[in-house]
Amino acid sequence: MSNAFVIRSLDEVRFWSRIMKEHSLFLKLGFRCEDKQLIHEAEQFYALFESIENRAHAFTAGTDPQTITKFNEEVHTAVSHIWAFKRKILGLIIRCQLPGGNNLPLLVDHTSREANYFRNRLTELNTGRLEPLPDAIIDENVFFLRIMADHAKFISHLLDPSERKLIDQANHFSDEFDQLLFQARDLDSMRPQSQTVPLLDQFLDENRVSVKSLRDFKKTARELIDACRIKSIIHPLLADHVFREADRFLFIIDMFEKSLTGKQSQAPNPIAIH
Ligand SMILES: [Fe+2]
Ligand SMILES: [Fe+2]
Repeated sequence: MSNAFVIRSLDEVRFWSRIMKEHSLFLKLGFRCEDKQLIHEAEQFYALFESIENRAHAFTAGTDPQTITKFNEEVHTAVSHIWAFKRKILGLIIRCQLPGGNNLPLLVDHTSREANYFRNRLTELNTGRLEPLPDAIIDENVFFLRIMADHAKFISHLLDPSERKLIDQANHFSDEFDQLLFQARDLDSMRPQSQTVPLLDQFLDENRVSVKSLRDFKKTARELIDACRIKSIIHPLLADHVFREADRFLFIIDMFEKSLTGKQSQAPNPIAIH
């Protein structure tokens, strides 16, 4: 095990534990006042991921890899628990047992997919079992394109209906990312024949252009919300949260690009260097 494993692990845990912490807050805010037990559970998850986040920031690149392996295992357990909590909430909402709550089912499902993604990253880091680069490129893009398409839908639905122009723009992004997701799934079903360097490179280039423009749209929305210039029920932290996730996707696309067009096709998966 190496220093790269420690750096990679800390980067993933710092980013995603903050995301899990914020999900706990968003879920809590969407419950009804009488859902005291659910609110309490959400608060416990908030505290749990806040402490994980703080510990991840206290470790350094020089921390013993074995300590990080144990830490990753502990985080994995916490993420499994929040995943189960989110799926339980989804079940309650879909069976109409929380009437009048404000958590959209797709949003709850979305946050559970992000938890599952985080859990898989931790497993990959600790086992050192990495997907070959061409598979990682397709799988990560299929995952993140759907996340981006969902974000556009959430923004559209949480804006005040009178914000017609912004809703139009958000709906446009939703359609654009749905299309990109279908394209990615086509590339997926054409594996392994579709996994040529030119096709994967073009795939990354095309996705990058759209993700950049969605990220900029989210940045503008965040600024408008912060300055109270638009009408919505979007929490300012949610606006920042979806912006950071788009930025993360761009960072991943750039890492893939470097590995793909770098020296050899046998480049390691840049997401999880062990
Ligand atoms: Fe999220
Ligand atoms: Fe998200």
